[in-house]
Amino acid sequence: MRILVTGGAGFIGSNFIKLYLARHPDCEIVNLDKLTYAGNLENLHDVESDERYRFVHGDICDEAVVATAMRGCDAVVNFAAETHVDRSIGDPAGFLKTDVFGVHVLLEAARAADVSRFIQISTDEVYGPTLDCAFTEEDRLNPRNPYSASKAGGELLARSYFETYDFPVIVSRGANNVGPNQYPEKVIPLFTTNAIEDLPLPLYGDGLQERDYTHVLDHCSGIELLLARGVPGEVYNVGAGNHMKNIEMTHLILEELGKPETLIKHVRDRAGHDVRYAIDATKLRRLGWEPEFGTKAAILDTVRWYVANEAWWKPLKSGEFREYYERQYRERLDEAGAA
Ligand code: NAD
Ligand code: TYD
Repeated sequence: MRILVTGGAGFIGSNFIKLYLARHPDCEIVNLDKLTYAGNLENLHDVESDERYRFVHGDICDEAVVATAMRGCDAVVNFAAETHVDRSIGDPAGFLKTDVFGVHVLLEAARAADVSRFIQISTDEVYGPTLDCAFTEEDRLNPRNPYSASKAGGELLARSYFETYDFPVIVSRGANNVGPNQYPEKVIPLFTTNAIEDLPLPLYGDGLQERDYTHVLDHCSGIELLLARGVPGEVYNVGAGNHMKNIEMTHLILEELGKPETLIKHVRDRAGHDVRYAIDATKLRRLGWEPEFGTKAAILDTVRWYVANEAWWKPLKSGEFREYYERQYRERLDEAGAA
């Protein structure tokens, strides 16, 4: 099987490529990635000379590039996206372009190439928040920020290709992923690397919001299963049920690193902050999915990876990241009285 993986230089895509090449000796992977600030070919260092792997630098919105990359592929796994909620609040346009229009370009090319599987990687954030239940795939979508709204747009478009053209689309809705190689804008790598550097941890609002911290390798094995056994036209939640409140997660990181709680700074909340995400992954479990990492194990594995891999993240925290960090946090930290 030759798979077109898009966004494969990012966090989840690169973990997926490495896992899939290791477990499927006969596969070939073409990785199409635009290399935005979040794309990093270092993540694929281990496989770059593997003859089953090929990198194509390009944008999923570019029809010509996509058509060429798609040639000879049997399946597509679309990870390519703008992914950070805070950035989407500041500047939504790029999210609409990649996360909706880009999906359209990929779907058209994949249909023309007659691929046998198209996995659209979506997110639990399309359901919006819930205080008490865990959403099933039948529940209504209620995205509440430009990131989750554009992801909902992308997956609805993908599902429309199943209904309209009988095109074999499968949608996965993953929970918050943690693990190696996540860009340090997301909360766990941000807090871990800040704590290592004795910088403040900007906790939004009261810190009582809750996420399901699913290990990236568990997410990737779920996608692997969907490629093999997922039913076209269906949607599958991918969440281990690893719930933890932000304040508890922050304490866990500081405890593991032996750093003081005085590093925690409660800062002005994110606009429209979704209080809790929760999904029910029974449908995927029925296909045989069994996550390996529990809550603490997933978070601690991540923290330890960042401790051991300063050479990976230190260079990322300069340049573009620095500018973003100043924009996003300077005023908040000043308001909170943190230097
Ligand atoms: P990421 O931000 O780490 O990586 C995104 C990758 O996509 C980067 O390599 C980037 O260069 C590439 N990219 C962006 N725009 C592109 C374009 N127009 N054309 C080609 N490549 C482009 O993201 P991630 O955390 O690895 O997320 C991957 C996918 O999984 C996304 O679709 C995201 O919505 C979804 N998802 C993420 C999480 C999470 O917790 N990170 C959870 C559920 C679902
Ligand atoms: P994030 O990693 O951005 O993922 P998402 O918003 O997609 O779930 O944030 C996870 C949680 O951490 C979310 O409740 C917001 C919170 N958070 C902070 O408190 N401070 C921060 O600096 C960041 C980035 C997130």
